Amino acid sequence: MRSERKLDHIRHALSHSESPIHYFDEVDIVHQSLGKLDWNQIDISIKLGELSASSPLFVNAMTGGGGEKTKEINGRLAKVARAAGISMAVGSQMAAIRNKEERETYEIVRKENPDGVVFANVGSEAGWKEAEIAIDMLEADALQIHLNTVQELVMPEGDRDFSNRLENIKEIILKAHIPVIVKEVGFGMSSETIKELKSLGCRYVDVGGKGGTNFSKVENERREDRMEGFNSWGIPTPISIMESRSMDYVIASGGIRSGVDGAKALILGAEAFGMAGPMLKTLIEGGESVLNRRIDHIHHELKSVMMVMGCKEIEELKGKPYVLHGETNNWAVQLRA
Ligand code: FNR
Repeated sequence: MRSERKLDHIRHALSHSESPIHYFDEVDIVHQSLGKLDWNQIDISIKLGELSASSPLFVNAMTGGGGEKTKEINGRLAKVARAAGISMAVGSQMAAIRNKEERETYEIVRKENPDGVVFANVGSEAGWKEAEIAIDMLEADALQIHLNTVQELVMPEGDRDFSNRLENIKEIILKAHIPVIVKEVGFGMSSETIKELKSLGCRYVDVGGKGGTNFSKVENERREDRMEGFNSWGIPTPISIMESRSMDYVIASGGIRSGVDGAKALILGAEAFGMAGPMLKTLIEGGESVLNRRIDHIHHELKSVMMVMGCKEIEELKGKPYVLHGETNNWAVQLRA
């Protein structure tokens, strides 16, 4: 049942029309004319607290559940991540925590990429025991805990009890020996959420904002009495990044399609950026070599922005001047008020 549902997700996520607004198109970087770096001086490696990576770009969590198809996709994504030298998160491991037979679906990621940076992934219904199994399954370098309240509510068979969530997050952060990243799945994060997460000891978030993969639409496709009002729910990713600035480490995801979008996320305050839906779509439609070419292209675009902006290192992008337009500007103005 669960693995069938996950394949449904993949099918729906890939067949969906794009978000009506590309929020990163409403962020303009203020151009600088006096580029004076040598391309070879530009370094895109990052340090994110205890995590080091050769690029701020990573493959974000996808394809939880079990089954041969999921295992195949995870293996292929891991090969791509290894060839590109980028980090990779796996999809929710909750099913494999409960059912040992499904563990190969994830173990393949470590097998294909023995030295890579890999993130484990659980829901906030997991306590420390479950989280530890997820981490060990992958010898993970970090753990993502996903928050997907809206998705669960729109999902006909979704969870309805979130009353243990805060305690679970707190316990996992306290006991884990690796970074714990609390992440959204496409509805974004507010400054109120960030404040509460900080009080639980959280230092890393992935804002998973609105503008990319839309799990309300995905789940609505699967129900007869649709909850249409949730199709436009959420905080746009650029705004979520701005709302999260008081967090130690901010990862951006949700609607990032290019190296220029990624650079905008870094300018707005993120330290790294993830892509999920576009990676999966490219893999399924084009195969591994096409996805590797796309990743190279994203890196080329990112370095090009760094060249124009005179940034030798990724962290120098943060705080460069930008201008907001449209919906994104409406959000920024009204939230500041
Ligand atoms: C996801 N995402 C996700 N996130 C998570 O934490 N656990 C999961 O199991 C999944 N599963 C999943 C399946 C599929 C098919 C997709 C496309 C996505 C959410 C993902 O990590 C990311 O936060 C959002 O998709 C927003 O990023 P994009 O897709 O707009 O780049």
